[in-house]
Order: sequence, then structure tokens, then C-alpha cells
Amino acid sequence: YPSDNIRNFSIIAHVDHGKSTLADRLLELTGTIRKGHGQPQYLDKLQVERERGITVKAQTATMFHCHKFLGSDTDFLLNLIDTPGHVDFSYEVSRSLAACQGALLVVDAAQGVQAQTVANFYLAFESNLAIIPVINKIDQPTADPDRVKAQLKSMFDLDPSDALLTSAKTGQGLEQVLPAVIERIPPPPGKSTSPLRMLLLDSYYDEYKGVICHVAIVDGALHKGDKICSAATGQSYEVNDVGILHPELVPTGILLTGQVGYIVSGMRSTKEARIGDTLHHTRTVIQSLPGFKPAKHMVFSGLYPADGSDFEALNHAIERLTCNDASVSVTKESSTALGLGFRCGFLGLLHMDVFHQRLEQEHGAHVISTVPTVPYIFEYSDESKLQVQNPAALPSNPKNRLVACWEPTVIATIIIPSEYVGSVITLCAERRGEQLEYSFIDSQRAFMKYRMPLREIVVDFYNELKSITSGYASFDYEDSEYQASDLVKLDILLNGQPVDAMATIVHRSKAPRVGRELVEKLKKFIDRQMFEIIIQAAIGSKVIARETVSAMRKNVLAKCYGGDITRKKKLLEKQKEGKKRMKRVGSVDIPQEAFHELLKVS
Ligand code: GTP
Repeated sequence: YPSDNIRNFSIIAHVDHGKSTLADRLLELTGTIRKGHGQPQYLDKLQVERERGITVKAQTATMFHCHKFLGSDTDFLLNLIDTPGHVDFSYEVSRSLAACQGALLVVDAAQGVQAQTVANFYLAFESNLAIIPVINKIDQPTADPDRVKAQLKSMFDLDPSDALLTSAKTGQGLEQVLPAVIERIPPPPGKSTSPLRMLLLDSYYDEYKGVICHVAIVDGALHKGDKICSAATGQSYEVNDVGILHPELVPTGILLTGQVGYIVSGMRSTKEARIGDTLHHTRTVIQSLPGFKPAKHMVFSGLYPADGSDFEALNHAIERLTCNDASVSVTKESSTALGLGFRCGFLGLLHMDVFHQRLEQEHGAHVISTVPTVPYIFEYSDESKLQVQNPAALPSNPKNRLVACWEPTVIATIIIPSEYVGSVITLCAERRGEQLEYSFIDSQRAFMKYRMPLREIVVDFYNELKSITSGYASFDYEDSEYQASDLVKLDILLNGQPVDAMATIVHRSKAPRVGRELVEKLKKFIDRQMFEIIIQAAIGSKVIARETVSAMRKNVLAKCYGGDITRKKKLLEKQKEGKKRMKRVGSVDIPQEAFHELLKVS
């Protein structure tokens, strides 16, 4: 396949607008997968992806398609690069787009343009991609393609006559998609005669093969047995296996200019496979390709083994998982309350959730996570600055006087039906947002931009926004600069002892409310024990909220009269099981759920 007969494209869309379903249909149309293979959303490989119905990790598939081109039947090689739709993963989106020359912009015919449609459009636009608008789900009774066409024109200046109308469900209009890809998207621009340059798109670890890298050949060609070198590390490797993703790994022994495929080259860990790196033949001098902006960690949380002795097991599980998710940062930390654990940085809350879920599902780890925090900066009178990713690490009595606190902000884009404008403005004001823009997409939809402290959106903002707008709001954000802020550290004390893993940093104006909610939540989850437990929230030495759990021992056998020994045993077993999931802090047992519940207090 000369590069003129290759097309590399992505499908970008707002969550749930049908990207993965459309990808499935295209794979079926080209015979890449069998129709009705019983596993919808073929490219969504992870269990979490299937369960939650969201794409987390971008996947690639190569398809073959014959098309009448310039008068004669021509075989084309089409590389489809799937992208995640959720805001947390826009980092993965820009990565996928780097290997593409065009994108299908999928918009739901009933819902119209949504916040992530806007974000994804601009990512594609900035990468100079050819954009093919696809109005999907036209089979729905509420579909209104003309309205969507008008939105595409007014928002993105896309020609309404360019829009394809499809239903990935009924198959209507799908036959136009691949011809449009071939005719409207340019072939990859690389030079086959130049020295090899390939872009490392992604990598994961496979039990049997070792590290598998997804690569895009920008210039030149790669053969099995070639010696290649990383521009970032200078390390050399021999290519043991090379091929395409069809969608399983199919060895071809060669990849040519413009192709996307995989290589196996004896890398021992995905740490060696730097995403965005340029790989080239050893002994050739090349100019590195522009890499990717590194993933920015927006949310940090401590992860601890639920059972203290499981530290090694958790360590192992995290190592394995980060092999396949290089966007998580991990450092060891310790807590007096929870023992040895890890401080992990995530792209967002969903990313954090997905990471936890994968740790438990794929690696059988039981974890306790601490209240998520954003990276704050504290500035002292000696001009030193401290970036705080863990509230417990913020000194209560610093050597030098604190002169300023800074918190990260984001620019949030919100699209809502006009009738919800009032309640959304109220919500954003409560979350300390500053309105930057307010306009209308059409007669029914409003478009707003806010600058908001990141802290205010990581905790449950999206859920609240959804609930006050009956699910109609769409939301996206991009990170922005730090702003000065009045921050305080809020400690939680049990019987006078601060629990480091429960400390949070909050805006001073929110401290009383958050403090009260935290102690109330904790009271619900801490069972009565042999002694009285006093739960307090405090700023420095000033207590701002307090609850008491009175003394008593829970007797699980109280309701179990008679001599049914098996039932008794069962109950005692259950109690034991429950105990295992407790953390003893000082002398107080705290159930695992208490930590999880604390995550939700904003
Ligand atoms: P993410 O992977 O989370 O970004 O979502 P997605 O955009 O890939 O959406 P997905 O393909 O998972 O589709 C979301 C839902 O819409 C699924 O329940 C699909 O069955 C449904 N759906 C997809 N295409 C159509 C369509 O053309 N018509 C109708 N009625 N439903 C569709």
C-alpha cells in the first residue's frame, strides 16, 4: 500500500453520541470483524469500558476497503483510531489525533452539539485535520438533523451540505462514510524515501509478548529485524515482531510510510516506551517529531491497602496497571493512620475511579483511597514555594510565615437548554466560578464559559450539574492558570487525634460547611464501640464542628436466639469479614466505606 492509498482517521464525539457503535459498524462493513460477533463496541476492550459504556483508552484498528477512486477500483488501507469521549481523557484524544489526517465528528441528531463536541472539534481543528461531520442516530423519533446542521454552521463554520446523516443502529447512511473518508481526508504526508521516523502512540504490557508499542510510521519503512533507537533515551532495540492491528495483532514483517501498527522490540517495561517519542533506525540522524504535551495531573489521592499487610500486593498491582496507563503518576507515601501507601496523580475524577476499579477487578487489590485533592501552591515569607499534593504534608506550623496560597483553575464550557440557565448560574456562583462568556447556540441552547477553581469541579460538580438540569447539561473543561486564594487546612480528629489521611485543604469560606458535613458523614459510618468517640473538624487549634458516637458494643448475636449453630457461625463470619475491612486509627475502627463516602463532600 503506497501512502496515497492509506487514510488515517479518528472518530471524535461527545460521550454517548455513538462513536464506538459507529466504529463497530465500520469494522463490520469492511469484514474486519464478523457481524453480530456478540460483543458490541469491539474496540472497548477493558472490562471497565464495557461496564461503564465509556471508552477510556484509545484503540486502533486497520481495515481494508475497495473503493472506486479516480475511475478505477482501488484498494485502500484505512486506520481507525478510536478516542475516548470523556473530558478526563482529552489527553488521549490529542494523542490519537497526532497520527491522523482527518476525523469524523459524530453528533447525536437529537442532542445536537454538546460540550465535548466543542472541545473535540477544536482539538481536531488545531491539528489541521480534515473534519467530516456525521449526524448520527437519525432513527430516533426526536432527531432533528436540520437543527444540528445549523449548529455546526454557526459554531464551527462547517458546511451543512458536508454533513453525513447516519444511524449506526439501523445502518442507514453508513455506506457514505468510508467513501467520504477516502475522498475528503488527505493521505499521510510522509516521505517513503526519507530515513525512518515513527511516532510512539501508545504502549501496553502483554504477559507473553512483553511491551507492545503502537506506532505511526511518519517517514520511511520498518522491517522485522531492524535495529531502532529512541530519540528520547538513546536506547537501541531490535524489532522482533511488527504488524498491523486488524483488530488483533497480525504480523506483516513490515510497516510502510503512513501506516499505523504495532511493534515488539524487547522493551522490558512500558517506562521505556515513552508515549510521543520518535523512534528511528540506529545510526541515522533525524529530527524528532513534535511529541505530545505530557499528561497533566489534576487530581491526587492516596491509595492504601485495605489490609495493611497487603502493601507488596498493592505495589505489584499498581506497577502492573501503570504499565498500561502511563498517565497515572505514582509516588510512595506513608500515613500514620493508614500505614504505607501511594500518592497517585490522575487526569480527573473519572480517571481516578476507573483506576481504582481496574485495580480491584483486574488485579484483585483492595484499596482505601483518601479524599482527592488538587495541587495547591503555598508561598512563604522566605519566598519558598511548596506544591502540596497531599494535605497532610502541609505544615501546620511552618518555619516561615505563609504569604500566599494559589490554586489551579480551569476554563469550563457548559451547554444547557435555555430554561436551566438560572440554576446553572447559581451553581457556578456557589462553586466560586467567574463567568467569562454567555451566549446562545440557537433558540434553545445556551453556551457558557466559566473560570472555576479546579477544586470545585473535581468533587461532584458534574453530577450536581446533571441533576439540576435533568441530565441535559454537557460539560467540559481545560486547565488554566493558578489564582490566589484564601485556603485553609481542615483537620479531622478522632478522640483528639488528627487523622492525617482525612485532612483536606478548602477555601476558608467553605470550611464550616465542609467540616460539618465531614463529621456528620463519619458519624454515620463509625459503629459504636466500647468507648465514646468524639469526631471533630478543626482549622489549626480551632474546632469548627463536632459529633459524638456514644459507647456500646454491637452484638451481632443479639437477635439470634435458639441454638442454630450454623446461623450463628455465619453471622460471626460476616462480622469477621466486616472487621477485615476496617482501619484502626488510634483505637477507633473506621470502616472502609467511611473513606469512600468522604470523597463526596465538596
Ligand atoms: P463513549 O465510548 O463513552 O465515548 O460513547 P460512544 O460515543 O462510543 O457511544 P456508544 O457507541 O457507546 O453509543 C452510546 C449509545 O447510543 C449506545 O447505547 C448505542 O447503542 C446507542 N446508539 C449508537 N448509535 C445509535 C444510533 O444510530 N441510533 C440509536 N437509536 N442509538 C444509537
